[in-house]
Amino acid sequence: MKSTIKDVAKEAHVSIMTVSRVINKKEYIASATREKVLKAVRKLHYRPNRVARSLVVQKTNFIGLIVPDIANPFFGDLAKGAERLAREKGYNLILGDTDGKVENEKEYIEAMRANMCDGIILVAPRIEDTVILELNDTIPLVLVDRSIKSDKILQVWIDNEGAACKAVEHLIELEHRRIGFLTGPKNVQNSLRREEGYKRALKKHGITFDPELVVIGDFYFKTGYEKFDTFFKLKPRPTAIFASNDLMALGLINRAKERGIDIPGDLSIVGFDDIFLASMIDPPLTTVLHPTVEMGIKAIDRFLNRLDDIEKEEEKSYLVNRLIIRGSTKSLR
Ligand code: RIB
Repeated sequence: MKSTIKDVAKEAHVSIMTVSRVINKKEYIASATREKVLKAVRKLHYRPNRVARSLVVQKTNFIGLIVPDIANPFFGDLAKGAERLAREKGYNLILGDTDGKVENEKEYIEAMRANMCDGIILVAPRIEDTVILELNDTIPLVLVDRSIKSDKILQVWIDNEGAACKAVEHLIELEHRRIGFLTGPKNVQNSLRREEGYKRALKKHGITFDPELVVIGDFYFKTGYEKFDTFFKLKPRPTAIFASNDLMALGLINRAKERGIDIPGDLSIVGFDDIFLASMIDPPLTTVLHPTVEMGIKAIDRFLNRLDDIEKEEEKSYLVNRLIIRGSTKSLR
């Protein structure tokens, strides 16, 4: 039978707390006591697990999940995925919604680090890389929907540039040449990568980049709705628009309908995410499938592996995406 921390404590004639301190390499244990405990550990072939460690290091079994906008179904689904696995493994999530503001991200990080959480899942944050690297030295961390060049940081992301390029190439294959682009915010990495993807697709097919066709957005539905008119006023009008996320694409479609524009007869629209609303709108939205739930599950999985010191070398940081072609895009021919 597997020995427990209790058995070790009994064998060494010390408290469970003392065993845990030794296991967790706390410095203030007298060397004679440490020796006694280690001897018992060896004798009983004891292997500390996460639960045992939690008895000393004051684990709360809470994981902080920080997202920019929980009202965006992309983040809601990601949270669902994370919640599912966390609960199965005996953890609870604590949510922080930052409204995409750096100061709110910092506040949540501090609160979660200081008070209650065993680790943090940081989703599409806007704080600088240096802050993320420092944070990673003080608390187990997984970075989601953003990448950093560092082997030390556990990450989960998709190739945003490649996915955006694929989405725009789909429009080019349908003979569209005047393709508008509604961007995300300028201080968000995934948004900048999608812009690179848009430009890469144009270049690849010999289409001259026209800055007039790029309209700055912010990932909110309302902005898609409002910015439609900016595209509408262009002369000549674009025949297609690629929106940097689905919520903005839905906003564009809503306003287009109010203006009597037929989608996709007069204008093709492509989104990014494949939130559940994408297939429910009329016409259903062509979009990039961002594996949202899977990202949440993967984030928790990587977090728990790190806590248990399990190294999975073959594990990749990025997940696969694909384009889903629905009714909002049509050939110009
Ligand atoms: O922050 C909003 C967007 O970033 C989401 O819609 C999703 O695309 C994510 O990557």
